[in-house]
Amino acid sequence: MPDLETYRATLLDYFEEEIGGEAYFHGLAEHFDEPGASEKLALLGEVERCAAEAVRPLLQRHGLNPRDESALAAEGKTYVARHAGLAWSAFVAHMVERYPAYIDDFLGLEAMAPPEDLAMLRVLTEHEVVTIDFARLEESGAADSTRPLRDYIAACRA
Ligand SMILES: [Fe+2]
Repeated sequence: MPDLETYRATLLDYFEEEIGGEAYFHGLAEHFDEPGASEKLALLGEVERCAAEAVRPLLQRHGLNPRDESALAAEGKTYVARHAGLAWSAFVAHMVERYPAYIDDFLGLEAMAPPEDLAMLRVLTEHEVVTIDFARLEESGAADSTRPLRDYIAACRA
């Protein structure tokens, strides 16, 4: 049984990574010329923000204080250069290949969590599911590839 301190540290870490992720996707949006790519990256950034805000009440519940947003955004932007030179199709392929591992991370967080935290954590896990759904649809050339992202954003704003 993992201890609560490990759970809390991981929760804070993942929250901060989503804030960084928002800045990462928004930063990447400037680097792709392919039609629609920057709009899609903006949606991906919004999904990251939604995921972070979904678990923010848990930070309060556990007395966790995230680092300053601007520091987290700056950290996220340091990853932009790594992918800024890719073609859009290569970036999408990277998402399809790399992101499923994040689902395991989020499920691992759920497995450590007190039961009362699970509903909010599932919204966090779900953001990765819809992001991968998007990437797979985009890779297959589906016209409505952003639907999973838009549905998630709409639900998170509701
Ligand atoms: Fe994310």
